[in-house]
Order: sequence, then structure tokens, then C-alpha cells
Amino acid sequence: MHAAELIERKRNGEELSAAEVRAFIAGYVRGDVPDYQAAAFLMAVWFRGLTPAETFALTAAMVASGETVDLAARLGRRVVDKHSTGGVGDKITIAVGPVVAACGVPFGKMSGRGLGHTGGTLDKLESIPGFRVELTTDELVEQVREVGIAVAGQTADLVPADKKLYALRDVTATIDQVSLIAASIMSKKIAAGASAVVLDVKVGEGAFMRTLADARELAREMHALGDQAGMEVVCVLTDMDQPLGRAVGNALEVREAWETVSGRGPGDFRELVVDAAAQLLALSDLGVDEEEGRLRAERVLEDGSALAAYDRWVRAQGGDPDPGRLPLAPVVRLVPAPVTGYVRRLGAREVAVAAMELGAGREVAGEPIDHAVGVVCLRKRGEKATAGEPLAEIHARDEAAAEAAEVALLAAYEIGDEPERRPLVLDVIR
Ligand code: URA
Repeated sequence: MHAAELIERKRNGEELSAAEVRAFIAGYVRGDVPDYQAAAFLMAVWFRGLTPAETFALTAAMVASGETVDLAARLGRRVVDKHSTGGVGDKITIAVGPVVAACGVPFGKMSGRGLGHTGGTLDKLESIPGFRVELTTDELVEQVREVGIAVAGQTADLVPADKKLYALRDVTATIDQVSLIAASIMSKKIAAGASAVVLDVKVGEGAFMRTLADARELAREMHALGDQAGMEVVCVLTDMDQPLGRAVGNALEVREAWETVSGRGPGDFRELVVDAAAQLLALSDLGVDEEEGRLRAERVLEDGSALAAYDRWVRAQGGDPDPGRLPLAPVVRLVPAPVTGYVRRLGAREVAVAAMELGAGREVAGEPIDHAVGVVCLRKRGEKATAGEPLAEIHARDEAAAEAAEVALLAAYEIGDEPERRPLVLDVIR
């Protein structure tokens, strides 16, 4: 295999064979293909795209780069999984896991860390004192069997090609390519052995997919990859023009997820948790439809069993489930509304960048983060704001950081005369 020749052919818009794609990926993971050639290949793909056959070959090559786990066979149950394409304030896994587990469906999931403006579930969970995210595959399976739920970091042996490629894409402006995203997500789902998966495809200015048309294309490609792997896939396209829920920042998001499993929490977030749980229950081996799934999800949120599942889960991974033990930032500043009116826009990306600059996220993999800091959006799109009354709350390490975040947040808000409302769920593609 001549890497330069494959890059040239892809650059010229030719289709590569499955064997060529496989050889390129295997060479990259072994270290025979250097980063600069892989980067050139990714950029050629960004401009030329991949055919369905190439996307399938890339996904299969990525799965084959490491170990696979057959969770369903090891648990003797149908295993359902969920994945989000990445958003702002997205703490769905932390709330939906306990809901699904409380309904009697095993929930064993491998999650990722945040990079760039999107947050990661592992970072959020690590704000819980004592919580251990590094479980071996055996520990994960054992915990799901005994407690019904486990969430851990992806082991180094699972899809190592994605780990390497994702880091390279992140620094070469090649993340936002539909086929590369589809292959990245589906290779991990296939390798982790899910029987069915609910994919939350985020759409809008805070997401990788800015338009509904791009999000539909991504959903279509992930469906095709799922079909070929014998995995049932449901894609829920959801709005990411504004943050999900109110909290953005690790410990703040865990607190919001805890409030939600306690039967409270912001309306939009709870709605999406119930929606995702209903889809997951309908795909599980419980034999219920989505409507019954919704009723069961609502019931466990109201009767305390989702909260009990959350407590069991957090304790099983060494954490303290008491939200009073979450770290607090020393400075809390309220941002007053400059005028009276209705929030017409709350830019998800700007809120995310403000939270990141407070220390809640990282720009480079491996950087430490501050779990306590972040933003709580007290007013969101469609809600009334009154001049002088708080629009948002900033949790910062010091006054200077709070000051900078206030300027950034005010630029994220647009207040007008008319309320602007848009649905959260934009489409469901089965
Ligand atoms: N999430 C992933 O796991 N991979 C991508 O490429 C984008 C979002």
C-alpha cells in the first residue's frame, strides 16, 4: 500500500476499495502511516466525502483495529445504548441511565471526555467526589449484572483507531464531516456490543451539524452502518441552538441531572430524558412500546426509584451521591438582563466558550479542568426577562474570570419583543 497514492486518488475524487481503506487505517494504527499523511487523507475526505461502501469499510476497519465486547452475550440480555453527537449542557446519560435501570433494563455504557466546546460525560461524573470512571470491561459487566447500571471510560483496547483519528481530526479542522462522524460513532457502538442504540443527533449552532439537512444525512449514514452490523438504530434529531437544560459546567450539570432523577429539573431536559428513556425501553427486551415506555419512565421519576438507581450506581463506582458534596465555585455572580423582553436567542456555542474559559472545558486533550465552575442560564429562549433581574448565574474561580464570562454571556443573549419558541425534538428517524 502506498499511502501517498491513496491520498492522491481520494483527493481526485476516486473511490477507494475496502482493502485499501483497511490497509490505510491498519497502517496508521501501527504507526507505519505518519500523522501528516493521515491528516492529508482526512482533509481529502473532508472535501470529497466518502461513498457508502467506503464509509462501511472505514467503520469495519476501525472496529477491527482493537478488541470488541459482546455485552449482550455476557449479560444474557438485549443491551440498549445511547449516544449523543455532542452538545452543550448535555447531561442526558447521567439522568437517563438511572431511569432505564430503574425500569429493569441493563444500562452499561462507555462514555467520552469533553474536547473543544462540547462537554463529556466522564468529566461530569468525575466532579462527584470519589467517582471512579476507569473500569475494566469485566468490572463494567459485573456492575451492570449486580447494580443494573455502569458508565465507564472507553478502554484503550476498544477502537484505538478512533482515539487516534479523533485527536488528529480535532486539530486539523476535519471533525465536521458526516461520514467521518458516522464511522467514529458507529465503530464504538458496534465494538461495545450494543443490540440497539438511540442516537441523539444534535442540530444547530452549538452542534457539529449546523443544519437539519446535514443532521438527516448523518442519521441516514448511521442507520445504514447499523443495518449492516445487525444493530437497530433510532436517531432523534434535537435542537442545539441553545444549551440543553440550564446548567453548563461539570458539577453544575451533575446537580441538574440529580434534580431531574429526583422528579424535578428543567422542563426541556426532563422532556428529552423521558423521550430517550421511552425509546430505549421500546428497543429493549421488556416488550413494551414507546408509549408504555414513556409511562414507565415518568413513573420511576415520580416514585423515587430512578433516584434510588442513581444512588446505587454512584456508590458502586466509589462516589458520594449526595449533591451537597459536589464542589462549589468561590465566586457566584448574577448577570442582570439589560432590557425587558423575551429571550429570542441564547447562543449555545457562546455559552460553551464562556464556560470553557471559566475552566470547565479543555482545548487540548489531557488538560486539567475545574469541575466547580460554569454557567446556569436562568432564562432561556421564549422566556421573559426583566431589566435588572438575573438572566444567568456565573460560577467562577475569581472575580476577573467572572467579569470576562459576564461580557461573553451578555453577547450570547438576544432579547426582543416577541417570544420565540421552537420544538426541542426536530425529527425522529427510525
Ligand atoms: N462524537 C464522536 O464520537 N465522534 C465524532 O466524530 C463526533 C462526535
